Amino acid sequence: DKITISLIKADVGGWPGHSTVHPDLIETAKEALQKAKDEHILEDFHVTGVGDDLQLIMTHRKGVDSEEIHKLAWNTFEKATAVAKELKLYGAGQDLLKDAFSGNIRGMGPGIAEMEITERKSEPIVAFMMDKTEPGAFNLPIYRIFADPFNTAGLVIDPSMHDGFKFEVWDIMEHKKVIMHSPKEMYDLLALIGAKSRYVIKRVYATESNPKVKGEVVAVVSTEKLYQIAGEYIGKDDPVALVRAQSGCPALGEVLEPFAFPHLVSGWMRGSHNGPLMPVSIKQAHCTRFDGPPRVAALGFQVANGRLVGPVDLFDDPAFDRARETAQYIADYMRRHGPFEPHRLPLEEMEYTTLPKVLTKLKDRFEKIQ
Ligand code: 13P
Ligand code: 13P
Ligand code: MG
Ligand code: MG
Ligand code: MG
Ligand code: MG
Repeated sequence: DKITISLIKADVGGWPGHSTVHPDLIETAKEALQKAKDEHILEDFHVTGVGDDLQLIMTHRKGVDSEEIHKLAWNTFEKATAVAKELKLYGAGQDLLKDAFSGNIRGMGPGIAEMEITERKSEPIVAFMMDKTEPGAFNLPIYRIFADPFNTAGLVIDPSMHDGFKFEVWDIMEHKKVIMHSPKEMYDLLALIGAKSRYVIKRVYATESNPKVKGEVVAVVSTEKLYQIAGEYIGKDDPVALVRAQSGCPALGEVLEPFAFPHLVSGWMRGSHNGPLMPVSIKQAHCTRFDGPPRVAALGFQVANGRLVGPVDLFDDPAFDRARETAQYIADYMRRHGPFEPHRLPLEEMEYTTLPKVLTKLKDRFEKIQ
């Protein structure tokens, strides 16, 4: 029996600034999705907020890229935007880059991670939601979950996973993709995804030889590129991902383990700084210090005949206190660099902010060095 899980998110206004989602927006979205559930468009849903991003987690039987589901998400974001405008929330409608829905939400601003799967006897799934960073922030943890035996014991211990996994990597500059196998092509894979602002993991697939999840998608990341759509810099594309756990996939604890290391990601203040990715509970998912630091929240569900049994707030756990503390320490260290690299992003990634204007202003004052 096939079921589709769609995680679609957008920033439709922050409260205050870019810090968090106002509860009225969450209420508005819940009402819209409840109506869709009553009309049997959705099997189930959960609405939440991480940082200033409104998150719609939905199950349905319409497959990926369903016009009906995308339209439902778009209309829901529009309703929430109307509320955001009333409250004069910051950047109301920020991520809705088109005036009218045109068949598919891809390329319109919201971020999407969706997968159509065969529901296993037991289907644990984790929805990861990040704010103040970009899709490439998922490269390191997704790699470690599905390819690093020092993270995932199952790659060594569990015979069903022993043939590894396949990674679909997107070149987001050239709009091309490639599928690479780990462990066979592990070094080549790392050569690409280490350049996380350009090569982004979009999906992970089980091998055909994996008896529990035979060739199916096991992880998916949102990879929208807001600035390319908008034509100017309007913030980073705060990403989301869905990851399946257990039975042919990494165990739940193996899926969460990479986040015990708060690795450096791009985003943070004005989308222009490197900083640590701090794992937090939903309750702690307000971006405050220097508009951050970048955060990741994780909600766990068991999918049962389309029903989302959950959520469990997976980082709401003292086991991640040390990671949060380390992240704070790194935040202090990075902040002391002020406007200097590598805290501030390199020039190529500043292109869409004020730097070109500064250079234009100084154009005639630059002299040739003898
Ligand atoms: P339990 O014995 O608690 O079910 O744990 C099994 C397991 O494999 C944990 O990784
Ligand atoms: P968001 O992408 O979360 O809206 O953040 C934008 C920003 O500039 C934060 O400083
Ligand atoms: Mg915002
Ligand atoms: Mg955001
Ligand atoms: Mg954003
Ligand atoms: Mg058990």
